[in-house]
Formats: sequence, structure tokens, C-alpha cells
Amino acid sequence: MAPSVPPIPATLLALSLLAILSLATAYRPWPSTHPNATDLALAGSKKFEGSSDFVHLRYHMGPVLTNNITVHIIWYGTWQKPQKKIIREFISSISASPAASDPTRRRSTVAGWWKTVQLYTDQTGSNISRSVALGQEKNDRFYSHGKSLTRLSIQSVIKSAVTAKSQPLPINPKSGLYLLLTSDDVYVQDFCGQVCGFHYFTFPSIVGYTLPYAWVGNSAKLCPGVCAYPFAVPAYMPQLKPAKSPNGDAGVDGMVSVIAHEIAELASNPLANAWYAGQDPSFPVEIADLCEGIYGTGGGGSYTGQMLEGRDGATYNMNGIRRRYLVQWVWNHVVNYCTGPNALDQ
Ligand SMILES: *[C@@H]1O[C@H](CO)[C@@H](O)[C@H](O)[C@H]1NC(C)=O
Ligand SMILES: *[C@@H]1O[C@H](CO)[C@@H](O)[C@H](O)[C@H]1NC(C)=O
Ligand SMILES: *[C@@H]1O[C@H](CO)[C@@H](O)[C@H](O)[C@H]1NC(C)=O
Repeated sequence: MAPSVPPIPATLLALSLLAILSLATAYRPWPSTHPNATDLALAGSKKFEGSSDFVHLRYHMGPVLTNNITVHIIWYGTWQKPQKKIIREFISSISASPAASDPTRRRSTVAGWWKTVQLYTDQTGSNISRSVALGQEKNDRFYSHGKSLTRLSIQSVIKSAVTAKSQPLPINPKSGLYLLLTSDDVYVQDFCGQVCGFHYFTFPSIVGYTLPYAWVGNSAKLCPGVCAYPFAVPAYMPQLKPAKSPNGDAGVDGMVSVIAHEIAELASNPLANAWYAGQDPSFPVEIADLCEGIYGTGGGGSYTGQMLEGRDGATYNMNGIRRRYLVQWVWNHVVNYCTGPNALDQ
């Protein structure tokens, strides 16, 4: 158990920042906009993990994903094989058994991270599924809807994938998640300025079905300092050195945490009527929003918290099958703070 800690400005900042965004499910790694050098110097001594008495995360009676979850990926644009592998193995790591990892890596696993997500239940008391599997994949190599997508054209991309003449993605509204990943030369509405990814559900009028989906973009060319932090740093913080990414691809290693963020929220709030904080369902603050930018014990404000460092100098905080990843923590509604598998007090 962590010591009980005072309410923190980070959560409040995140709440107020999110409240002014017009996007239902925005994600941005920086809780505060422009931390300055003083903030950064002081951050190391802060001792909190997003705990707050002011966070009233509530259940609004809608479904959560209690059936075995299958993640179907749409690779939009130009993707290299090694990039796909990093992301596929992350998803496969979510419900990997400890036996699947090598013995030196059984502590602090991606599966341990998912346990916090499994704490969320629906009206019947059923928990979110332990099982998250990789489903089918579709390549949209030739940018079917161009190199600049809007929120609505994203739904058209998903429609094309589920209605394709050859090998369409299966339609699975109860347990399927549709993950649209855009390559580093694709701009998506609000990318970089306000969001690094978002989730919602498709409209029957566009796609023909209500399917929970998320979009996450590779920010490597457009804004790595925003969306692939700490593997890249913003230009306004020249004093800061980027961390070495665990899989040698800052853009994709940065995407992994955003993908994790979106999958955790899709599982706990797939139709935007289950678990969120705030009064207004159009501006929900969800289980990963509450822990934005927190990767370890002590995290909050502009401090990421204590992470792990590999012998190769790479920064990460959890082990997957064969690989290491850096993934943000999620809100634990049982104890009322952010938790993760690398917490020092476990
Ligand atoms: C940096 O932030 C601290 C605390 O947030 C503030 O007191 C200080 O004035 C700021 N410094 C500059 C140069 O903006
Ligand atoms: C299911 O959720 C409840 C309530 O959060 C929790 O006490 C229980 O440990 C969860 N079960 C699993 C398998 O995670
Ligand atoms: C769910 O997944 C688990 C293991 O991943 C498997 O044992 C079980 O049979 C699956 N259940 C259903 C209903 O498919």
C-alpha cells in the first residue's frame, strides 16, 4: 500500500486541461502545458502518484468489455516489419502468462499492468476480461483516404476495412476493438496540438455497426517531443535529453504507451457510458487520462516517476514477451490512485 498522499495539482491540471478540450476522448502526454526549468528541478522531490480526493471516477451503468477482447489492427500508410512487430508483441503481452516471459523478467510485466484495468466491472459485477488477443490485420498501404484524416474520415477507413471484398476485418461489436494506426507521414485532425490518439465508437450511419475503435498516430516526423516523450523532447526544453527507447524506434515506442492508454479506456468505457470522471459525458476524464505522464512511483506534474533502466541504457517500466516497454499507469478505483506493475511499494 502507498502512503496516503495529499491531493495533487497534476490531476487537477489534467482535469481542467481536459475540460477545456472539445474532444471527448483526448489524450496528451503532458499534463501541464509548458513546464519550465524550475518545475523540472523541483519535480524530482515530489512524492505522489496522481492520488486525489477530488477525483470522482464513477460508473454510469454502461457496458465494459467483459468478453475476451480481440484487437484488430488497420495499418494505414507505410509501415516497416520491425515496427509492426513491436506493436503486435505489446498487444500479445497484455495477457501473456508469467511463464511466457523469461524468469529474469517476471517482475513488472505488461500483464501486471492490465490487472489494474481488470478491476473495473459492469452492473452485473463482471470484470473486464483478462484475455486480450491480437485479431486480424488489414493493410491500407496506399492511403485510401489520403494523408490527412478527419475524425469522420477515420470511420470511413474502418468501414473500408470491415467491408473489403477480400479478407475484410471481422465484425465483432461485443469483444472486438479496432485499432487504426497511421504512419509518420499522415496527419489526423487535432494530432500533436491536442491529441496523440483517441477512442470512440463507429456510427451505424457511416460504418453500419457500432464498433469501439481507437486511432493512434506515429508522431516521429510531426511532433515526437509531444507524443513520443520521453524518447524525444519538445524544442522548448533544450536542456532536457531524450531517453533511449527500449526497442530502438522512438516514434513506435512512444505509440505503445498511447495504444495502451486507448485500449485501457476502450475496455472500461467502450460506448462512453461506463467508467469516467466529470459531469459531462461529452468531456469524460477516463481511467488513463487521470494518470497521463505517470510511469512510476513519484510521478506527477512534469515528473514521469521512477522508471527502469536497462543495461543498454534504455528507459522502460515493464516487460513484455521478449521486449521491454514504457507504458503509462492507469487509475485504480479501489485504492484511488494511479498504479502500475513497477510501483516500488509492491
Ligand atoms: C517556473 O515555474 C515556477 C513554479 O511553477 C514559477 O514559480 C516560476 O516563476 C517559473 N519560472 C519562469 C521563468 O517562468
Ligand atoms: C474484479 O473487480 C473487483 C472490484 O474492483 C475486484 O475486487 C476483483 O479483484 C476483480 N477481479 C479480478 C479477477 O481482477
Ligand atoms: C477466453 O480466452 C481464454 C484464454 O485466453 C480461453 O481459455 C477461453 O476459452 C476464452 N473464452 C471464450 C468464451 O472464448
